[in-house]
Amino acid sequence: MNHCQSTKEYFNSIANKWDTMCHHDSEKISAILTLANIKKDSRVLDIATGTGVLIPHLLKTEPTEVKAIDLSELMIAQAQKNHDDNQVRFQVANFYEFDQTGFDFAIAYSAYPHFWDKEGFVRHLAESLNSQGRFMIAHSESKETINGRHSGDQVRKVSASLKDAMTESNYFKAAFDIDILVDTDEMYIISGKKK
Ligand SMILES: C[S@@+](CC[C@H](N)C(=O)[O-])C[C@H]1O[C@@H](n2cnc3c(N)ncnc32)[C@H](O)[C@@H]1O
Repeated sequence: MNHCQSTKEYFNSIANKWDTMCHHDSEKISAILTLANIKKDSRVLDIATGTGVLIPHLLKTEPTEVKAIDLSELMIAQAQKNHDDNQVRFQVANFYEFDQTGFDFAIAYSAYPHFWDKEGFVRHLAESLNSQGRFMIAHSESKETINGRHSGDQVRKVSASLKDAMTESNYFKAAFDIDILVDTDEMYIISGKKK
């Protein structure tokens, strides 16, 4: 079974309990989105939205559209239940095959380790953004905490280990100028602008 298929099955199997399994610190998410500095009236892509934890925070930036995609149809179903807002467009989609373009900002929050093909991810990220577009990879925890959580028997099969942000950012340099790196006990962020 390929990685995307096993990832989809894994997240489908836990979608109904995801919101009770995970605690997301709202203040940290606000801090992350302050750094993101999303301009009003942006078209925003929420890659691997899960149950949509980021959506209320993204809507505060007054976008024209939030497109929220995820591989797992059961995570998307839960996201749709959680966020009934006509500014948000949900779609079940594998990001590697997602073909919409022209986004001003794309974010993968708490999801990047589940993308195994990093070069493919970066290529696709660049294609989905407009010429001035920005991306952000963000976690409201340290890489040590994330890697520790991903060491369990089942989850290890659907998660790649996070390297330090400086090393991991090298994947992005083919298509982006990196201008934010955070790699602390509290957060992990890689962000930049399309070249
Ligand atoms: C750890 S969850 C995080 C979800 C959400 N961002 C959050 O913070 O609660 C990772 C999500 O990535 C999604 N995912 C993994 N690979 C994907 C892919 N290739 N395309 C789209 N979504 C993907 C999974 O289905 C899952 O919902």
